[in-house]
Amino acid sequence: MTSQDFKGTIVGFCNPLLDICANVEPEFLAKYKLKANDAILASEEHVPLFQELVEKYPVKYIAGGAGQNSLRGAQRLLPEGATTFIGCASNDAFGKQLASSAKKDGLNPLYMIDENKPTGTCALLITGQDRSLVANLAAANSYSVEHVTRPEIWEQVEKAQYYYVTGFFLTVSPESILKVAQHAHEQGKTFMMNVSAPFTPEFYKDTWEKVLPYVDVLFGNETEAEAWATQFHYDHPKDIQDTAAKIAASPKENPNRPRTVVFTQGSESTVVAIGNQGQEGVSVFPVQAVPKAEIVDTNGAGDAFVAGFLSQYVTKQSLPHCVQCGHWLASLVIRESGASYPEKMAKFTPSV
Ligand code: AP5
Repeated sequence: MTSQDFKGTIVGFCNPLLDICANVEPEFLAKYKLKANDAILASEEHVPLFQELVEKYPVKYIAGGAGQNSLRGAQRLLPEGATTFIGCASNDAFGKQLASSAKKDGLNPLYMIDENKPTGTCALLITGQDRSLVANLAAANSYSVEHVTRPEIWEQVEKAQYYYVTGFFLTVSPESILKVAQHAHEQGKTFMMNVSAPFTPEFYKDTWEKVLPYVDVLFGNETEAEAWATQFHYDHPKDIQDTAAKIAASPKENPNRPRTVVFTQGSESTVVAIGNQGQEGVSVFPVQAVPKAEIVDTNGAGDAFVAGFLSQYVTKQSLPHCVQCGHWLASLVIRESGASYPEKMAKFTPSV
């Protein structure tokens, strides 16, 4: 295949957010009633948090937004122009910073612009090995189906063969997600999603029920798997293999293409379930440990895993090969600060 065959092959949807990262004390989390390892949407009570953070702590600004992190990483491993990212930002300094960081990695950002709100931010509050995420969506929340149906945007959607949408985007524009999911189904293309955070099955279960039948590949981590299993009343919510198998076997619009469910668990093995074969369809892939001394932080590890997996999936590599590349890319990102990819990246060489 030539690089021309990959032009615009993946289109992703999520919230473009600028991450504001700082090490904070547990008292700071307690003040805003935050858990040490969680991801939530900011509400009224978190408005002063952002100001206090930048005033009292040395902060770092890093381009973020889970979906954009994954597509930037996938693009680093794919031929030029393979990825396009859609979401809503403002045309302020933060929005420009996000777009330029995306372009630096070769990603094509097609932002809807809301000039009336600031670009979204995400407070990334680090306490030891844990991180608490508080997303203030701002302009990102303005994304609407009107943007995706503009002829110049829909043209990009039609060109693509693969779609990757985060669960975070369920809170913003479920209409857009369904529109793209239905298009993927009608055209026999691949539609992929990420659970993204425990709150998505907790508070958006109804939306997941509408979207899941279109999902060909679903990603998540162990806490999201447990939250999903709890909300969907599975008998063994702590059994990640059982949860993966049950989601993989859930009803599907296109039953001829079995669903793949991929759950990562940090340094523990990654679990993959395919189709409705129950435990028979479950595989487990060990993670090669990264020495503690080499880990800067694990922010963006899950996004990088997806990036590596996608880069191989769209080039039609085997499942073990996709998982191995996910592990490899995540192992590079945890050696960097935040969801950043190394300036110079070695070529991925599979051992399977
Ligand atoms: P963050 O949650 O930090 O990133 P993430 O990619 O989800 O990373 P996690 O550390 O949570 O990883 P995970 O639990 O998913 O994966 P796992 O640990 O299993 O946040 C990232 C972004 O989210 C931010 O940029 C922010 O902007 C964005 N965001 C927040 N709210 C948002 C919203 N509402 N909308 C849009 N964006 C939003 O690890 C995965 C893999 O990593 C493992 O399989 C393994 O291969 C590797 N790995 C992890 N730990 C180790 C280890 N110790 N040793 C070796 N390998 C490891």
